[in-house]
Amino acid sequence: MTTQLREDNPFEDSKMAQEWIDAIETERGGAREKEVYPMINSWVKENHLQTVLEVGAGQGVCSPYVETEYIGVEPSQALIDRAFELYPQKKFIKGSSYELPLEKGSVDGAFSVGVWFHIENLDDAHKELSRVLKPEGKVFIITSNPETHDEWESLFTGTKEGKKLDGAVKLPTGKMTRNVFFLHTKEDIISSLEKAGFEIISTKNFGYGSENVEDRGLGFWIAIEARKR
Ligand SMILES: C[S@@+](CC[C@H](N)C(=O)[O-])C[C@H]1O[C@@H](n2cnc3c(N)ncnc32)[C@H](O)[C@@H]1O
Repeated sequence: MTTQLREDNPFEDSKMAQEWIDAIETERGGAREKEVYPMINSWVKENHLQTVLEVGAGQGVCSPYVETEYIGVEPSQALIDRAFELYPQKKFIKGSSYELPLEKGSVDGAFSVGVWFHIENLDDAHKELSRVLKPEGKVFIITSNPETHDEWESLFTGTKEGKKLDGAVKLPTGKMTRNVFFLHTKEDIISSLEKAGFEIISTKNFGYGSENVEDRGLGFWIAIEARKR
């Protein structure tokens, strides 16, 4: 199956992919280690998920936290190549949120970290997600907290057209010369999930920066848990 992305994805450029690899693989002690990875591990265990899909797996850094069957789908060949180097025992397939190279009703759960803000057409992605999930299948989406989009925007230097940011972006331990980001509201994401037949179980803001910050603010990230009806 050929990968057909409807939006421009800079991670498919080998230079951008390498910038991402360099930045993420040197990050220590941030929200990923402290919060994201433990949340994924608990979500898989608490829901007794046997077959788990990750949408936009990047170089597979979340894959070790799924101890049951893991399938990472990722559009960037450079990141898939790196994923196989890092985690040769895990399964990674080229594809995108719009075309998941999986059979109908084949997975118990699907999660994604830091990808939903790269997806322009949420309705199409949610429809495709519903197709590959079993009835009652679980979804766990970790994306930018729309309440802190001003802070996200401040990391970009480039252009803004409607919801779309396009430009250089600062990462916690590096930068990407070019990234594309869509500022979806919480309502955009929730209503699109509901339209595709999902029931929202919970939403939680997290990622407050350093442990000792007194004003913990609103949280940089949001985790949305849903279930296919
Ligand atoms: C910020 S990285 C996050 C990677 C990984 N989830 C992680 O936590 O390290 C965003 C990833 O989303 C992928 N991506 C972008 N658009 C996508 C789409 N429409 N469907 C699936 N993945 C997409 C990119 O190729 C990239 O690997």
